[in-house]
Amino acid sequence: MTKKKEQSTMRIGLLGLGTVGTGVVKLLRENSDIINMKTGLNLEIAKVLVRDAKRPRPGVPEDLPITDDVREILADPSIKIVVEVMGGVEPARAYMIDALKAGKTVVTANKDVVSQYGKDLYAAGDVGDAELYFEASVGGGIPVIRPLKESMSANRMQKVMGIVNGTTNYILTQMSQFGRPYEEALREAQALGFAEADPTNDVQGYDAGRKLAILASIAFMSRVTPDQVFTEGITRVTPKDIEYGRRFGWTIKLLAIGKEVDGQIEARVHPAFVPSSHPLASVHGSLNAIFTEGDPVGETMFLGRGAGAGPTASAVVGDLISAALSKRTPGRRAGDACTCLFEKKVVDMGQVSAKYYLRLTSEDKPGVLAHITMAFGAEGVSIAQMVQGTGGDVATDDGKGELVLVTHTVKEAQMQRVVKRLNGIPEVLSVDNVIRVEA
Ligand SMILES: NC(=O)c1ccc[n+]([C@@H]2O[C@H](COP(=O)([O-])OP(=O)(O)OC[C@H]3O[C@@H](n4cnc5c(N)ncnc54)[C@H](OP(=O)(O)O)[C@@H]3O)[C@@H](O)[C@H]2O)c1
Repeated sequence: MTKKKEQSTMRIGLLGLGTVGTGVVKLLRENSDIINMKTGLNLEIAKVLVRDAKRPRPGVPEDLPITDDVREILADPSIKIVVEVMGGVEPARAYMIDALKAGKTVVTANKDVVSQYGKDLYAAGDVGDAELYFEASVGGGIPVIRPLKESMSANRMQKVMGIVNGTTNYILTQMSQFGRPYEEALREAQALGFAEADPTNDVQGYDAGRKLAILASIAFMSRVTPDQVFTEGITRVTPKDIEYGRRFGWTIKLLAIGKEVDGQIEARVHPAFVPSSHPLASVHGSLNAIFTEGDPVGETMFLGRGAGAGPTASAVVGDLISAALSKRTPGRRAGDACTCLFEKKVVDMGQVSAKYYLRLTSEDKPGVLAHITMAFGAEGVSIAQMVQGTGGDVATDDGKGELVLVTHTVKEAQMQRVVKRLNGIPEVLSVDNVIRVEA
């Protein structure tokens, strides 16, 4: 005979009723039976905060208690858990701090606030039995925060590397599969609703940078903030580079890369070539994936939908259940305390090591190649592979030579110096692109 679950009702305050908020309401209504069967919990939405309470909201249950006064949630002692799905930094940050200080547990999907103000949030929650949950802030519906914090907590993590922005992955997939130029792929992504009218946050890598800050902080147990993450976007990637990469057996991705090397942290977001056999290479379209390496677990990959009402609500409500179980049994902390126990140095990008792909255009004259290879040699950068565009299936411009060089592993600073030297060679007309290669 199965043991009957202890029954309890938990009153929730929901901040925000947009894409994610309505997803949360729908999920709680539709799956309340299985949530109750599994946990004995009745998760009751006591109040929902919106900007404009008078606005008609088609599809939203009529009996949902909506307010535009946050005090109805923050000052109500019967509300034990606050779910923040408003987005933006203010007033979301302030509301979360106030809720935590009042002893309410906070569940949030807000990467902007968690990545920048995680320390303040934990400090605010430290005073009572308030906890902080933020599974949905990285990778939407993909469970990765809790696996890193709990399931894999016995490991020493060495790497956390992911495709954590669906917009850029969609654009790069379109460019790779159909040879579309960046601008065209972006316009299509905007028309289909995969990219915002102002795509800066996504295409420049800032969104991925915030998510990496969160992932790296947890994986390496040391706080990394967005300003410490090197970011480079996808706007300079061309179909030509993608085609050359294919010749080398590579696929291009916007990667968020966190590594611990000799006790220091690398945190960087940039386009990178990965071997086409790497698990991340086959993550296409708007999917997200996070690949990790730890000792002794080895390699693990988490794959799924990084956004959308349903997937994100799945993560939010999963957190909500953990939060409610923790509230029901005082002292049972669900392993969600801050794990940032160290203060490891985040290394300067110049000191990061990688292999590099470099494409340049030069005058097609005898002796030019010698000058170019000397520029590499002078900085101690050895060349692993070289392809001359002329005669290949990658087109070159009239009377000019195109050259692609791939280096062995070198420091970023060395490579930057090589680029400077190349730009000083009169026959080198342009250094067209430099892309890191992640093995
Ligand atoms: N959308 C996704 O797929 C996804 C995935 C992962 C994480 N997230 C994160 O989830 C959060 C919410 O995203 P979303 O797409 O659901 O946003 P959204 O559709 O823009 O909805 C925001 C909601 O918050 C309310 N709101 C905003 N500012 C407010 C304020 N100052 N006072 C009161 N209410 C306010 C809005 O009220 P009104 O309805 O009155 O305007 C709206 O209901 C963000 O942090 C986002 O990064 C989203």
